Amino acid sequence: MPRDVSTPAGARAVTAVAPAKINLHLGVGDLRADGFHDLLTVYRAVDLWEQVTVALVDGDGAGDDSDGEVIVSGPGAYQVPTDRSNLAARAVDLLRGEAGVDARLSIRIVKGVPVAGGMAGGSADAAAALVATDRLLGLGLGRAALESLAARLGSDVPFCLRGGTALGTGRGEKLAPLLHARAEQHIVVALADGGLTTPVVFAELDRLRAEGGTGRELPRAGSVDALVEALAGDDPAGVAGNLANDLEPAALSLMPALRKTLRAGAEAGALHGMVSGSGPTCLFFCAHREQAIAVATEVSETGVAREVRLTRGPVAGAHVIDNPQQT
Ligand code: C5P
Repeated sequence: MPRDVSTPAGARAVTAVAPAKINLHLGVGDLRADGFHDLLTVYRAVDLWEQVTVALVDGDGAGDDSDGEVIVSGPGAYQVPTDRSNLAARAVDLLRGEAGVDARLSIRIVKGVPVAGGMAGGSADAAAALVATDRLLGLGLGRAALESLAARLGSDVPFCLRGGTALGTGRGEKLAPLLHARAEQHIVVALADGGLTTPVVFAELDRLRAEGGTGRELPRAGSVDALVEALAGDDPAGVAGNLANDLEPAALSLMPALRKTLRAGAEAGALHGMVSGSGPTCLFFCAHREQAIAVATEVSETGVAREVRLTRGPVAGAHVIDNPQQT
């Protein structure tokens, strides 16, 4: 039997934000029986944000089709589904079902993370939606319960909830915070035309590795120890020298034009350039903000990227905000 909704006094809508993630280290193991790959990854949250507002819809639903409404705005919004397959909608539905709450809810998403860019924009939507719905319905589930629900929605969702810097294992959903990894980074984000679909990139890696069995072995990312040590200090070059992404050869194989983007960043003087997660976004790690501005300007002028943004990390995970950005 659904229970009554008790909302905190006067709350009719709650807005939460959640950050994009990058993988400073992404080691991909072999394909598992469940279709996922075992990962060893170092996640970092960066200051590109998804904003999700969950609102109670009045009425009993008769003659009113606004329940389940999902509205998406911001760059690339047209590529995002607005039905119940949207990850924010799946998060709301999951939480509502788990809590046995019968409330009619609408969802409004403002995108700030590149769509299909390998930066977990959809996962950030799910994380923000969980936090907003928990607060709106007064469920008070707490971080641990939200994190286990998050893992059911996607491998990156628990990290988008948590933020900061964390070691991820399993399929990426098992997290251990890296509390000493405080070294701040200034990063240039180069967006590409078109997207790459995560499962397709993983499958391409499997294919390349199978080919490697006949002579061209792909290198593997290996240990995270040197990176974790560098992150505890204040040495951007030490961090940059220990970044790794096993998915990069697969992303480059599917989208060879990304090589030009990586070259442009290297020529502009970035400490290190690499594909972000499953791509096709490319990241350029810089020594300081001034260098990041110079690299962003130069990469932008070469015309290899659809759009160039500056970001930095680490930042906090998903949280409720009081003054949402209006669109
Ligand atoms: O968990 P998520 O929905 O983000 O994963 C999307 C897809 O990426 C999976 O269906 C799978 O094909 C691939 N994936 C994987 N191994 C992981 C994470 C994701 O193969 N550890």
